[in-house]
Amino acid sequence: MDDRFNTAAGWVLFAGIVALGSSIIASESFHSERPEKMAYPIEGVEAAAGEGGAAAEQPIEAYLAKADQAKGAEVFKKCAACHNADKGGPNQLGPNLWDVLGEPIGQGKGFAFSPALATHGGNWDWKSLSAWLTSPKSFANGTKMTFAGISNPQDRANVIAFLNQHSDSPLPPPAAPAPAEAAKAPAEGVPVTANAADNAAAATNATAPAAAKP
Ligand code: HEC
Repeated sequence: MDDRFNTAAGWVLFAGIVALGSSIIASESFHSERPEKMAYPIEGVEAAAGEGGAAAEQPIEAYLAKADQAKGAEVFKKCAACHNADKGGPNQLGPNLWDVLGEPIGQGKGFAFSPALATHGGNWDWKSLSAWLTSPKSFANGTKMTFAGISNPQDRANVIAFLNQHSDSPLPPPAAPAPAEAAKAPAEGVPVTANAADNAAAATNATAPAAAKP
């Protein structure tokens, strides 16, 4: 073996190291290019991943069925910087919220609503309130309610139950999730509750949640 061979072998080795190094760098940078949002969302999967692995959310009615308005009063402390829910209470930074369930969205109490909310249309019911309180901005892009939202569905249900009690005529609790929605649960990684059949039976007799107020 002469020196020349050693030199050549050295270069081969060096080239190998460089190649290995750049392939590591390449794979690192490919990693960071992984899209934030998957191109093909799979139902239930994204919701589960989005909450740091928490169970996928069921319809809000499932949480309303076990809502606790005393806990809702606790949650309402987050709202109290801008709202009160007292009968005849004043508008503050946000509108008074007495009797808000069943009211037209963005119209009540002589409050100067943003166009985003005022032109939304529809009435406040269990579902629309839940969507609103999950993310005011997604519900009415351009709203002036600068509140990030409540991601925990039980907290949301509790505060909605609290609002429902702040009314001249509280609405009956909504029907438990319809059979179709309950049957969807396994696909979302949530076991079907044993009383799903009972719930389904109850759902058939219950009044519509969005029933207009007198
Ligand atoms: C930083 C102040 C602020 C906080 C905190 C806040 N809101 Fe609001 N809220 C507003 C404003 C402002 C509006 C009017 C929004 C618009 O016109 O776009 C509003 C509107 C609403 C409406 C619509 C009322 C109607 O008659 O259409 C509801 C319901 C509501 N808020 C509930 C809540 C609840 C429940 C919380 C707490 C979980 C909360 N808000 C927290 C400021 C706030």
